Amino acid sequence: MAPVAVTESFAPAKSIKDIKEEAKIFNPFYSPSIGDDGDSNYEHAQYKPSFPNVSWEPLTEVQVTERGLFADPSKKSLLKAAQTVKHLTPVIGTEILGLDLRQLSDSQKDELALLVAERGVVFFRDQPINIHEQLDLARYFGPLHKHATTPITRNGLEEVHVVYNDASRRPDPAAFSKLELWHSDVSYEVQPPSTTSLKVIAGPEVGGDTLWSSGYALYSSLSPGFQAYLEGLTAVHSAVAQAEGARAAGLPVRRQEIETIHPIVRVHPTTGWKSVYLNPGFVRRIVGVPKAESDAILTFLFHQISDNPDYQVRFKWNINDIAIWDNRVTTHSATFDFWPATRHALRATPHGEKPASVADYEKQTGKQAKDRQLVIWEQQGIKVDLPTNGVSKKRGYND
Ligand code: SIN
Repeated sequence: MAPVAVTESFAPAKSIKDIKEEAKIFNPFYSPSIGDDGDSNYEHAQYKPSFPNVSWEPLTEVQVTERGLFADPSKKSLLKAAQTVKHLTPVIGTEILGLDLRQLSDSQKDELALLVAERGVVFFRDQPINIHEQLDLARYFGPLHKHATTPITRNGLEEVHVVYNDASRRPDPAAFSKLELWHSDVSYEVQPPSTTSLKVIAGPEVGGDTLWSSGYALYSSLSPGFQAYLEGLTAVHSAVAQAEGARAAGLPVRRQEIETIHPIVRVHPTTGWKSVYLNPGFVRRIVGVPKAESDAILTFLFHQISDNPDYQVRFKWNINDIAIWDNRVTTHSATFDFWPATRHALRATPHGEKPASVADYEKQTGKQAKDRQLVIWEQQGIKVDLPTNGVSKKRGYND
Protein backbone atom coordinates (compact mmCIF):
# COMPACT_ATOMS: atom_id res chain seq x y z
CA MET A 1 0.00 0.00 0.00
CA ALA A 2 1.32 3.42 -0.96
CA PRO A 3 2.22 5.59 2.05
CA VAL A 4 -0.47 8.11 3.04
CA ALA A 5 0.63 11.67 2.53
CA VAL A 6 0.53 13.65 5.74
CA THR A 7 -0.65 17.19 5.19
CA GLU A 8 -0.44 20.12 7.58
CA SER A 9 -4.05 20.85 8.49
CA PHE A 10 -3.25 23.63 10.95
CA ALA A 11 -1.87 27.08 10.37
CA PRO A 12 1.83 27.38 11.21
CA ALA A 13 2.42 27.64 14.95
CA LYS A 14 2.29 31.16 16.34
CA SER A 15 5.14 32.60 18.31
CA ILE A 16 4.72 33.06 22.06
CA LYS A 17 5.00 36.81 21.42
CA ASP A 18 2.04 36.74 18.96
CA ILE A 19 -0.06 34.70 21.34
CA LYS A 20 0.67 37.06 24.21
CA GLU A 21 -0.18 40.02 22.01
CA GLU A 22 -3.51 38.48 20.94
CA ALA A 23 -4.36 37.50 24.50
CA LYS A 24 -3.94 41.06 25.74
CA ILE A 25 -7.31 42.09 26.99
CA PHE A 26 -8.07 45.26 28.79
CA ASN A 27 -10.04 45.26 31.96
CA PRO A 28 -11.47 48.76 32.42
CA PHE A 29 -10.83 48.53 36.14
CA TYR A 30 -7.28 47.12 36.34
CA SER A 31 -5.90 48.19 32.93
CA PRO A 32 -6.91 51.63 31.78
CA SER A 33 -7.41 51.84 28.04
CA ILE A 34 -5.34 54.40 26.12
CA GLY A 35 -7.70 54.73 23.13
CA ASP A 36 -8.85 58.18 22.00
CA ASP A 37 -11.57 59.04 19.50
CA GLY A 38 -9.51 62.03 18.32
CA ASP A 39 -12.44 64.47 18.54
CA SER A 40 -10.59 67.80 18.19
CA ASN A 41 -13.64 69.84 19.21
CA TYR A 42 -14.09 68.12 22.56
CA GLU A 43 -14.67 70.84 25.13
CA HIS A 44 -12.98 69.06 28.05
CA ALA A 45 -9.82 68.03 26.15
CA GLN A 46 -7.56 69.37 28.92
CA TYR A 47 -9.14 66.87 31.33
CA LYS A 48 -8.68 63.86 29.06
CA PRO A 49 -6.51 61.06 30.50
CA SER A 50 -2.75 61.20 30.56
CA PHE A 51 -0.25 58.80 32.11
CA PRO A 52 2.92 60.71 33.00
CA ASN A 53 5.97 58.52 33.27
CA VAL A 54 7.02 59.70 36.70
CA SER A 55 7.99 57.94 39.87
CA TRP A 56 6.63 58.78 43.31
CA GLU A 57 7.93 57.80 46.73
CA PRO A 58 5.85 55.45 48.91
CA LEU A 59 3.10 57.21 50.83
CA THR A 60 3.88 58.23 54.38
CA GLU A 61 1.45 58.80 57.26
CA VAL A 62 -0.73 61.91 56.87
CA GLN A 63 -2.65 63.82 59.54
CA VAL A 64 -6.40 63.73 59.03
CA THR A 65 -8.97 65.79 60.91
CA GLU A 66 -12.30 63.98 61.00
CA ARG A 67 -14.58 66.84 59.96
CA GLY A 68 -17.83 65.01 60.69
CA LEU A 69 -16.99 65.10 64.41
CA PHE A 70 -17.34 68.90 64.32
CA ALA A 71 -20.83 68.81 62.78
CA ASP A 72 -24.06 69.83 64.46
CA PRO A 73 -25.86 66.45 64.60
CA SER A 74 -29.10 68.06 63.32
CA LYS A 75 -27.19 69.22 60.20
CA LYS A 76 -29.57 72.15 60.08
CA SER A 77 -27.32 74.69 58.39
CA LEU A 78 -26.78 72.30 55.46
CA LEU A 79 -30.28 70.86 55.21
CA LYS A 80 -32.13 74.16 55.66
CA ALA A 81 -30.10 75.72 52.84
CA ALA A 82 -31.30 73.03 50.41
CA GLN A 83 -34.48 73.15 48.35
CA THR A 84 -35.16 69.42 48.74
CA VAL A 85 -33.48 66.55 50.54
CA LYS A 86 -34.67 63.12 49.50
CA HIS A 87 -33.51 59.72 50.73
CA LEU A 88 -33.33 57.38 47.72
CA THR A 89 -33.49 54.14 49.73
CA PRO A 90 -33.90 53.46 53.47
CA VAL A 91 -30.25 52.53 54.00
CA ILE A 92 -28.13 54.39 51.46
CA GLY A 93 -28.18 57.42 49.17
CA THR A 94 -29.66 60.91 49.55
CA GLU A 95 -30.29 63.44 46.80
CA ILE A 96 -30.02 67.16 47.54
CA LEU A 97 -31.42 69.81 45.21
CA GLY A 98 -31.01 73.56 45.30
CA LEU A 99 -27.60 73.79 46.94
CA ASP A 100 -24.42 75.07 45.30
CA LEU A 101 -21.37 73.19 46.55
CA ARG A 102 -19.16 76.23 45.84
CA GLN A 103 -21.02 78.24 48.49
CA LEU A 104 -20.74 75.95 51.53
CA SER A 105 -19.52 77.44 54.81
CA ASP A 106 -17.14 75.36 56.94
CA SER A 107 -19.97 74.30 59.26
CA GLN A 108 -22.02 73.20 56.23
CA LYS A 109 -19.01 71.19 55.01
CA ASP A 110 -18.74 69.52 58.43
CA GLU A 111 -22.43 68.66 58.25
CA LEU A 112 -21.96 67.35 54.73
CA ALA A 113 -19.20 65.04 56.02
CA LEU A 114 -21.61 63.78 58.69
CA LEU A 115 -24.48 63.33 56.23
CA VAL A 116 -22.22 61.40 53.83
CA ALA A 117 -20.95 59.25 56.71
CA GLU A 118 -24.55 58.44 57.70
CA ARG A 119 -26.07 57.98 54.24
CA GLY A 120 -23.02 56.47 52.47
CA VAL A 121 -23.46 58.62 49.36
CA VAL A 122 -25.10 62.00 48.66
CA PHE A 123 -25.96 63.29 45.18
CA PHE A 124 -26.10 66.91 44.01
CA ARG A 125 -27.61 67.79 40.64
CA ASP A 126 -26.33 70.36 38.17
CA GLN A 127 -23.28 71.68 40.03
CA PRO A 128 -21.19 74.45 38.42
CA ILE A 129 -18.22 73.60 40.69
CA ASN A 130 -14.99 73.34 38.64
CA ILE A 131 -12.27 70.80 39.25
CA HIS A 132 -10.09 73.19 41.25
CA GLU A 133 -13.01 73.97 43.58
CA GLN A 134 -13.84 70.27 43.76
CA LEU A 135 -10.24 69.54 44.83
CA ASP A 136 -10.44 72.32 47.47
CA LEU A 137 -13.68 70.88 48.86
CA ALA A 138 -12.13 67.40 49.00
CA ARG A 139 -8.97 68.78 50.66
CA TYR A 140 -11.17 70.12 53.47
CA PHE A 141 -11.87 66.47 54.37
CA GLY A 142 -8.27 65.25 54.17
CA PRO A 143 -4.95 65.41 52.27
CA LEU A 144 -5.54 64.34 48.67
CA HIS A 145 -4.54 60.95 47.33
CA LYS A 146 -2.55 60.61 44.10
CA HIS A 147 -3.34 57.39 42.25
CA ALA A 148 -0.35 55.29 41.20
CA THR A 149 -1.77 53.93 37.93
CA THR A 150 -5.03 55.49 36.78
CA PRO A 151 -4.89 58.57 34.53
CA ILE A 152 -4.49 62.15 35.65
CA THR A 153 -5.63 65.10 33.51
CA ARG A 154 -3.69 66.20 30.42
CA ASN A 155 -3.12 69.57 32.05
CA GLY A 156 -1.22 67.83 34.84
CA LEU A 157 -3.60 67.79 37.84
CA GLU A 158 -1.95 64.90 39.68
CA GLU A 159 -4.58 64.71 42.43
CA VAL A 160 -7.39 64.07 39.94
CA HIS A 161 -8.43 60.54 39.03
CA VAL A 162 -9.82 60.69 35.49
CA VAL A 163 -12.61 58.35 34.42
CA TYR A 164 -12.87 58.41 30.62
CA ASN A 165 -14.34 56.22 27.91
CA ASP A 166 -15.24 57.03 24.31
CA ALA A 167 -16.06 55.23 21.05
CA SER A 168 -12.46 54.02 20.70
CA ARG A 169 -12.67 52.11 23.98
CA ARG A 170 -15.11 49.25 23.68
CA PRO A 171 -14.98 47.32 26.96
CA ASP A 172 -14.08 43.68 26.35
CA PRO A 173 -16.48 41.45 28.29
CA ALA A 174 -13.86 38.69 28.16
CA ALA A 175 -11.59 40.82 30.31
CA PHE A 176 -13.53 41.24 33.50
CA SER A 177 -16.43 40.04 35.59
CA LYS A 178 -19.05 42.42 36.90
CA LEU A 179 -18.26 41.20 40.40
CA GLU A 180 -14.68 42.48 40.45
CA LEU A 181 -15.77 45.95 39.35
CA TRP A 182 -17.22 46.42 42.85
CA HIS A 183 -14.62 48.21 44.93
CA SER A 184 -13.86 50.78 47.55
CA ASP A 185 -11.33 53.19 46.06
CA VAL A 186 -7.65 52.23 46.61
CA SER A 187 -8.57 50.28 49.76
CA TYR A 188 -5.04 48.81 49.68
CA GLU A 189 -3.60 52.11 50.92
CA VAL A 190 -2.64 52.33 54.60
CA GLN A 191 -4.97 55.34 54.95
CA PRO A 192 -7.69 54.61 52.39
CA PRO A 193 -10.03 57.39 51.20
CA SER A 194 -12.88 59.00 53.09
CA THR A 195 -15.30 61.63 51.67
CA THR A 196 -14.71 61.23 47.93
CA SER A 197 -16.35 63.15 45.07
CA LEU A 198 -16.97 62.40 41.39
CA LYS A 199 -18.36 64.89 38.90
CA VAL A 200 -19.58 63.71 35.50
CA ILE A 201 -18.56 66.34 32.91
CA ALA A 202 -19.65 64.43 29.79
CA GLY A 203 -21.94 61.45 29.62
CA PRO A 204 -24.34 59.35 27.61
CA GLU A 205 -28.02 60.18 27.21
CA VAL A 206 -28.74 56.95 29.06
CA GLY A 207 -26.48 54.40 30.79
CA GLY A 208 -23.22 54.70 32.69
CA ASP A 209 -25.05 54.60 36.04
CA THR A 210 -23.06 54.02 39.21
CA LEU A 211 -24.18 51.74 42.04
CA TRP A 212 -23.16 51.95 45.68
CA SER A 213 -23.63 49.28 48.35
CA SER A 214 -23.71 49.97 52.08
CA GLY A 215 -21.18 48.22 54.33
CA TYR A 216 -23.30 49.23 57.36
CA ALA A 217 -26.35 47.43 55.91
CA LEU A 218 -24.28 44.36 55.07
CA TYR A 219 -23.01 44.23 58.66
CA SER A 220 -26.56 44.67 60.05
CA SER A 221 -27.84 41.81 57.88
CA LEU A 222 -25.54 39.20 59.45
CA SER A 223 -26.28 36.97 62.44
CA PRO A 224 -24.76 38.05 65.79
CA GLY A 225 -22.37 35.09 65.84
CA PHE A 226 -21.10 35.80 62.34
CA GLN A 227 -20.77 39.53 63.11
CA ALA A 228 -18.63 38.70 66.16
CA TYR A 229 -16.52 36.24 64.13
CA LEU A 230 -15.83 38.84 61.42
CA GLU A 231 -15.02 41.53 64.01
CA GLY A 232 -11.99 39.50 65.07
CA LEU A 233 -10.59 39.11 61.54
CA THR A 234 -8.46 41.07 59.08
CA ALA A 235 -8.06 40.82 55.30
CA VAL A 236 -5.38 41.55 52.70
CA HIS A 237 -6.13 44.44 50.29
CA SER A 238 -3.86 44.36 47.24
CA ALA A 239 -2.73 46.88 44.62
CA VAL A 240 -0.92 44.17 42.65
CA ALA A 241 -3.59 43.39 40.02
CA GLN A 242 -4.08 47.07 39.27
CA ALA A 243 -0.32 47.66 38.88
CA GLU A 244 0.10 44.54 36.72
CA GLY A 245 -2.88 45.59 34.60
CA ALA A 246 -1.26 48.97 34.00
CA ARG A 247 2.07 47.35 33.06
CA ALA A 248 0.28 44.92 30.72
CA ALA A 249 -1.24 47.92 28.95
CA GLY A 250 2.24 49.45 28.59
CA LEU A 251 1.50 52.16 31.16
CA PRO A 252 3.72 53.42 33.96
CA VAL A 253 3.20 52.50 37.61
CA ARG A 254 4.03 55.73 39.40
CA ARG A 255 4.38 54.28 42.89
CA GLN A 256 5.37 50.76 43.93
CA GLU A 257 2.29 48.61 44.54
CA ILE A 258 1.53 47.55 48.11
CA GLU A 259 -0.62 45.12 50.05
CA THR A 260 -2.16 46.16 53.37
CA ILE A 261 -4.04 44.31 56.08
CA HIS A 262 -7.21 46.02 57.32
CA PRO A 263 -9.91 44.91 59.80
CA ILE A 264 -12.89 43.23 58.14
CA VAL A 265 -15.28 45.20 60.29
CA ARG A 266 -14.22 48.84 60.61
CA VAL A 267 -15.89 51.52 62.67
CA HIS A 268 -16.64 54.91 61.17
CA PRO A 269 -14.97 57.54 63.37
CA THR A 270 -17.90 59.98 63.13
CA THR A 271 -20.96 57.73 63.34
CA GLY A 272 -19.39 55.01 65.51
CA TRP A 273 -21.24 52.48 63.30
CA LYS A 274 -19.77 49.14 62.23
CA SER A 275 -19.28 48.44 58.55
CA VAL A 276 -18.01 45.46 56.56
CA TYR A 277 -14.81 46.72 54.91
CA LEU A 278 -14.29 44.22 52.09
CA ASN A 279 -14.50 44.63 48.33
CA PRO A 280 -14.11 42.22 45.39
CA GLY A 281 -11.80 44.61 43.49
CA PHE A 282 -8.93 44.63 45.96
CA VAL A 283 -9.45 42.12 48.79
CA ARG A 284 -7.59 38.86 48.23
CA ARG A 285 -7.83 36.78 51.39
CA ILE A 286 -8.77 36.66 55.05
CA VAL A 287 -5.73 36.45 57.29
CA GLY A 288 -5.12 33.39 59.48
CA VAL A 289 -7.93 31.09 58.41
CA PRO A 290 -7.80 28.11 56.04
CA LYS A 291 -7.91 29.21 52.39
CA ALA A 292 -11.13 27.26 51.74
CA GLU A 293 -12.79 29.12 54.62
CA SER A 294 -11.46 32.48 53.40
CA ASP A 295 -12.63 31.80 49.83
CA ALA A 296 -16.11 30.73 50.94
CA ILE A 297 -16.63 33.70 53.27
CA LEU A 298 -15.30 36.24 50.79
CA THR A 299 -17.43 34.78 48.00
CA PHE A 300 -20.53 35.02 50.19
CA LEU A 301 -19.82 38.60 51.30
CA PHE A 302 -18.73 39.80 47.84
CA HIS A 303 -21.98 38.49 46.38
CA GLN A 304 -23.99 40.18 49.11
CA ILE A 305 -22.32 43.45 48.04
CA SER A 306 -22.92 42.98 44.32
CA ASP A 307 -26.20 41.03 44.27
CA ASN A 308 -28.29 42.27 47.18
CA PRO A 309 -30.38 45.26 46.08
CA ASP A 310 -31.50 45.94 49.67
CA TYR A 311 -28.08 47.45 50.42
CA GLN A 312 -27.72 49.37 47.16
CA VAL A 313 -28.57 52.62 45.47
CA ARG A 314 -28.22 53.19 41.71
CA PHE A 315 -27.63 56.69 40.43
CA LYS A 316 -28.53 57.93 36.94
CA TRP A 317 -26.21 60.77 36.08
CA ASN A 318 -26.86 63.95 34.19
CA ILE A 319 -23.94 66.08 33.08
CA ASN A 320 -22.61 68.24 35.96
CA ASP A 321 -24.04 66.00 38.69
CA ILE A 322 -21.71 65.21 41.54
CA ALA A 323 -21.73 62.29 43.95
CA ILE A 324 -19.97 62.47 47.30
CA TRP A 325 -19.52 59.12 49.03
CA ASP A 326 -17.76 57.76 52.05
CA ASN A 327 -15.35 55.10 50.82
CA ARG A 328 -14.98 53.80 54.37
CA VAL A 329 -18.52 52.44 54.53
CA THR A 330 -19.53 51.80 50.90
CA THR A 331 -18.41 49.90 47.83
CA HIS A 332 -19.34 51.02 44.33
CA SER A 333 -19.40 49.83 40.74
CA ALA A 334 -19.67 51.70 37.47
CA THR A 335 -21.67 50.23 34.58
CA PHE A 336 -20.14 49.85 31.10
CA ASP A 337 -23.35 49.73 29.05
CA PHE A 338 -22.97 53.01 27.13
CA TRP A 339 -20.40 52.29 24.39
CA PRO A 340 -19.90 54.00 21.89
CA ALA A 341 -20.92 57.13 23.82
CA THR A 342 -18.38 59.20 25.72
CA ARG A 343 -18.45 59.25 29.51
CA HIS A 344 -16.00 61.49 31.34
CA ALA A 345 -15.80 62.15 35.08
CA LEU A 346 -13.29 63.64 37.52
CA ARG A 347 -12.67 62.32 41.02
CA ALA A 348 -11.10 63.99 44.07
CA THR A 349 -10.06 61.53 46.77
CA PRO A 350 -9.05 62.57 50.31
CA HIS A 351 -7.16 60.19 52.58
CA GLY A 352 -8.99 59.02 55.67
CA GLU A 353 -7.67 57.58 58.92
CA LYS A 354 -6.09 54.16 59.31
CA PRO A 355 -9.13 51.84 59.55
CA ALA A 356 -10.08 51.04 63.15
CA SER A 357 -11.40 47.64 64.18
CA VAL A 358 -14.20 47.45 66.73
CA ALA A 359 -11.67 46.74 69.50
CA ASP A 360 -9.39 49.63 68.39
CA TYR A 361 -12.28 52.09 68.15
CA GLU A 362 -13.66 51.17 71.56
CA LYS A 363 -10.18 51.40 73.14
CA GLN A 364 -9.35 54.72 71.45
CA THR A 365 -12.67 56.47 72.13
CA GLY A 366 -14.06 54.74 75.22
CA LYS A 367 -17.35 54.46 73.27
CA GLN A 368 -19.20 51.36 72.17
CA ALA A 369 -19.27 50.74 68.42
CA LYS A 370 -22.85 50.27 67.18
CA ASP A 371 -24.90 48.45 64.56
CA ARG A 372 -26.47 51.23 62.44
CA GLN A 373 -29.79 49.46 61.97
CA LEU A 374 -30.24 48.86 65.71
CA VAL A 375 -29.43 52.53 66.44
CA ILE A 376 -32.07 53.66 63.95
CA TRP A 377 -34.72 51.26 65.23
CA GLU A 378 -33.98 52.44 68.77
CA GLN A 379 -34.38 56.08 67.66
CA GLN A 380 -37.73 55.08 66.14
CA GLY A 381 -38.81 53.38 69.38
CA ILE A 382 -38.90 49.97 67.71
CA LYS A 383 -37.92 46.89 69.73
CA VAL A 384 -36.60 44.03 67.64
CA ASP A 385 -35.96 40.47 68.81
CA LEU A 386 -32.69 39.32 67.37
CA PRO A 387 -32.24 35.63 66.59
CA THR A 388 -29.84 34.45 69.29
CA ASN A 389 -30.70 30.76 69.49
CA GLY A 390 -30.27 29.91 65.80
CA VAL A 391 -33.95 29.04 65.38
CA SER A 392 -35.61 31.30 62.86
CA LYS A 393 -39.32 31.97 62.94
CA LYS A 394 -41.63 30.82 60.16
CA ARG A 395 -42.40 33.80 57.98
CA GLY A 396 -44.65 32.36 55.25
CA TYR A 397 -43.24 34.63 52.56
CA ASN A 398 -42.98 32.60 49.41
CA ASP A 399 -44.67 34.33 46.51
C1 SIN B 1 -14.87 55.29 40.55
O1 SIN B 1 -14.72 54.08 40.70
O2 SIN B 1 -14.44 56.08 41.34
C2 SIN B 1 -15.66 55.80 39.34
C3 SIN B 1 -17.05 55.34 39.32
C4 SIN B 1 -17.75 55.72 38.04
O3 SIN B 1 -17.12 55.79 36.98
O4 SIN B 1 -18.95 55.94 38.09
